[in-house]
Formats: sequence, C-alpha cells, structure tokens
Amino acid sequence: MQIQYQNPYGGDCKFSIISTTPINTNDIKVKYLITSALPYINGIKHLGNLVGSMLPADVYARFLRQEGETVLFICATDEHGTPTEIAALEAGLDVATFCERMHGLQAEIYRNLGLSFDYFGRNSSVYNQELTQYFYQSLDKNGFIEEREISLVYSLDDECFLPDRYIIGTCPHCGYQSARGDQCENCTSLLDPTELIEPRSAISGSTRLEVRKTKHLFLKLSALSHEVKAWVEKHPNWSNLTKSIAMKWLNEGLQDRCITRDITWGIPVPRLGFEGKVFYVWFDAPIGYIAATKGWGIENSQDWETWWREPENTFYVQFMAKDNLPFHTIMFPAMILGTRENWKLPDQIKGFNWLTYYGGKFSTSSKRGVFLDQALSILPADYWRYSLLSMIPESADSAFTWELFQVKVNKDLSDTFGNFVNRILKFTVKNFGATIPEGGSFGQKEQELQNTCKQLVNKYCESLKNMEFRKAIEALYSLWSVGNQYVDARAPWKLIKENPEEAAQVVRTCINLIRIYALVSLPILPFTSAKLFDALHLSNTDRTTKISESVNFDALYPGHPINIIPPLFRKLEEEEIRELSVRFGMRN
Ligand code: 2FM
Ligand code: ZN
Repeated sequence: MQIQYQNPYGGDCKFSIISTTPINTNDIKVKYLITSALPYINGIKHLGNLVGSMLPADVYARFLRQEGETVLFICATDEHGTPTEIAALEAGLDVATFCERMHGLQAEIYRNLGLSFDYFGRNSSVYNQELTQYFYQSLDKNGFIEEREISLVYSLDDECFLPDRYIIGTCPHCGYQSARGDQCENCTSLLDPTELIEPRSAISGSTRLEVRKTKHLFLKLSALSHEVKAWVEKHPNWSNLTKSIAMKWLNEGLQDRCITRDITWGIPVPRLGFEGKVFYVWFDAPIGYIAATKGWGIENSQDWETWWREPENTFYVQFMAKDNLPFHTIMFPAMILGTRENWKLPDQIKGFNWLTYYGGKFSTSSKRGVFLDQALSILPADYWRYSLLSMIPESADSAFTWELFQVKVNKDLSDTFGNFVNRILKFTVKNFGATIPEGGSFGQKEQELQNTCKQLVNKYCESLKNMEFRKAIEALYSLWSVGNQYVDARAPWKLIKENPEEAAQVVRTCINLIRIYALVSLPILPFTSAKLFDALHLSNTDRTTKISESVNFDALYPGHPINIIPPLFRKLEEEEIRELSVRFGMRN
C-alpha cells in the first residue's frame, strides 16, 4: 500500500517518508533530480569541494542512469557577491569577463573529472535573474518580505560596506578567532557581523570600521518557522548530520534574514528605492538550481518545468558539505514555502563533513592542499575518484594524506583491480589467441564465485541507492579481491599444462568477471570502464546492462574477441610521494 504524503503547499515526492529512496510503482515512474552545491566562481575548487558534493552526486547520477532511471543532474557556478568582485579586481578583469572565463575553466576541469552534469549553468544567467525576481515578488506578495533601515559595517580604508563574510572576528558562541561575519565555520552558528568580537576587514585587515545606516529587505524567516519545522520533521530518513544542523537552527529560533546588498555585481532588486542594490548571493544561489534546469530545458528543447512543478513525480536529492546545510534545510525551503506555489522541495539532503588535508584546512591563500587542476596534472580522474570516495567524510571529518592516496592507488587500483585485468587479458591472448576459448565446465568453484559476486553486487547497489559511498567502495574492492582469490586458487598458468580445457574455463570465467567489473565500476571509474568495454568489444546493448543484473558468467562466450590493453593503473613510488608532500605544503 502506498503512503500518501502531502505537504500543505505541495512540493514533496509521495515516497519520501517511506525510505531513503523511492520505489517505482506501476502507475508512476519516479524521475530523479540531482543537484550538487553550486561552486563559487572565484577560484578553482580543491579535493575537499569535489568529494563533499559534486563527486558523490555524480556517482549517484551515473548509478541511477545505468539502472535505467530517468535522471537530471544539474549544477552551475555561483557567481554573485563581493568575493567575485574582489577576485576579478585581483585578476585585472571586469567582473563579467572574469566570470565567463572562470566558468569555462571550471566546466573544463569538471568534464575532465568525468562529472556527468546534464547541464552546468551559471547563476548570472538571465534565467536566474528572472526566477530570483519572481521568487522575491511572490514572497513580497505573501507578506514575507519587510523593508528595514539597518546599520551595516562600513570600512573607511576599503571605502565600501563590508559583506558579512568579509568581516572577521571572534565567534561569540564558541570563541573561534577567525569566524566570518555570516557564519562560524567552527561551530556552524549563523552570525550577524555585529555580533563578532574584535572585528576586522578581511580585505585590508583594517579595524577602522564604522556602522552606517542603509535600507534593506528582509526575508521573514521567523514567520515561516513553523512550516519549515513541520517539513523538516517529516523527514526522519535524513542523516543525523542533516537533521541535527536543521534542528539546531530551528531550535535557536529563526531570525529574519537580510536578502539585499549595497554592491553592484548581482541580481537587481525590482523595487522602488532599491535602485543600485542587488540580492544577497545566498538568496539567488539556490534558485540557481531551478534556473539551471530551465537553461537545460530551453537549450535542449526539453520540458524543464515538470521537474520542479510536478513534485509528486520527482525524487529530488541535494548533495553538499555541512556548511551549506542551514541554507538548504531552512532558508531555501522557507523561500519555496513562502511563495505558496507548488515548487519541488528536496526529498533527501545529503550532507558531508570536511575532508581535511592532514587534519588541517585546505587553504587557497596559504597554498595548502590540492586543487583540482593540480590533481589532474598529477594523475587522471579515475585515480582521484576512487581514492577520494574511499575516504569520503560521511560520518565524520576525514583526512586526505599522500600516504593514504598511495595505498589506494598502489594496492586497490593497481595490485588488485588493474593487475587482475591485465594479467588475465595477457594470459588469454598468449595461450588461446585474441578470442574467448571454449572447453571445460562451470564447476563448484565457479558457482561459488558467482554466488559471492551476486551478494557483493547487491550490497554495492543497495549502498549506492542509499548514498552510502564508503560501503559501496568496500563492496567494489571485495568484488575485485574475489577475482584475485579465484584465479590464484585455480592457477590457470598450471592448468594450461595439465588440463587446458579447465584452463579455458577459468579464463572464460575471468573475462566474464572483467565484464562485470567494467559494468559495476562504471559510476566510480567511468574512464576505466570505457577502456574495458572497448577491450572486451562489448555491444552497445551490453554496455547499458543494469549493474544490479550484471552478474552473468555466460554473457561473453567462446569465440568473442578481446584485446590486450596497456596497464590500467600505474603505481606511485615513494620518491614521488615525498616530492608531492613537499610541493603541496606537507613537508619542508
Ligand atoms: O558554499 C558554496 O560553495 C556555495 N557556493 C554553495 C551554493 S549552493 C546553492 F545553494 F547554490
Ligand atoms: Zn563558533
């Protein structure tokens, strides 16, 4: 029996309270909308940004597509705000040109990392401008916008109002000394910059700050608090991290939030007396998810609106790091609920802790940690995708170290996966030619292997459905290991002399196992899977086999062509690890 769940203003998938994932029924085919937090435009992102939102979102999207689901995976650059103006100034470019270049650069890096966005938009697009102004007008019409004269911090030395995040000081809640004026990243409390103790300008370091009066618009979060709380409470299936951050915010009491700024780079506020002011970047940022969907629809002649306007048929999952959770569990839902329109609300909000660099923060300014362009210049995407997912900060912060990376590359990818594939293909071609040999029979050892593979593939699929990436990686690694155990136990290099028919059976089993590996590894190692698909001459139909149905040891039969391929993965030597840790700020 289906449990019908209706939120007072629509906007929820009817399956969302039953489990982490929806169930397709006969009458309705659920489609999946997936978004990852929109990366700021003002710099190349680092490994932590990748593993904390875009990468797991991509793996989830690729998995669901392979399972035959309808998926729309959306991302965009988050472009507005003073940080962008400052970055453009530093680059010696006007802001629009700077953003265009950085968008292109980021898009190329994400493509090279295999991130399979269906659309990678821009928050400075006309779609976002129109939708943001529309959201504002709806909220205003419904009484959730209020005009107030407020006092803001003006920097005499920088000659401008300082945006919240450009005022630094001590957090009044936890005492952290480098808290930003919008949020303390140590205790995640949202802050008003005037609450900071001993504030200073993050631009110049100046303490010559004064408070000046200026007129701004506020989103009345306090008036939407009960509705947001009721909506949050209807999602017991969210992770503890997501629920606890949402409830912490709600229990502290929602404060009305200023949604306009005295700067030039942003979306103009369509209101008399607000000429020259723009919306706060966090007001237009999440609307960017909808705007990018619109961009995708318009540019590809697709119906974009049903994804957001027929909430009951869409299962919507958002991926992000923990600092983004308050905006996605509280502020954006409040904005949607306040429109009194039937916009889609997320069914699942998947938050991640921090990936640290040897226990400390990745830092652009002190050049500590690894940025995505640098990562790709060291090794190709799949090395990073696999290794990062194996250390993904799911239940707590976790540390990237070069030593751990080396273990993942050398032991998991090279010794366990790559070595199995390369030695089987070589052995086959050497002893039987470039086709799958016939002979032998599917015996008890093969039957056991098949049973184990089925169990592991089930575990892998369940983990990915539930967005449990560490468990998925464990299952994948075990799957590679059982292949090695099987081939070591069956020792075809001995059988070839004593019983060539049996050796043929072992080889046939192993090549079918490589086919299973190619399909199962696809969401995590898409480039490697593509190489294996080609090496095994898989048909286009077989390439789209569902992962959950991939365990079939008869799929490739005698006479089917195969190729030898170069080693799938190379190893990282000690000397290289030493050099990398010196170059990236770990050792002197
Ligand atoms: O923290 C960040 O990187 C933000 N640019 C995320 C925005 S997510 C969405 F709401 F736009
Ligand atoms: Zn704090």
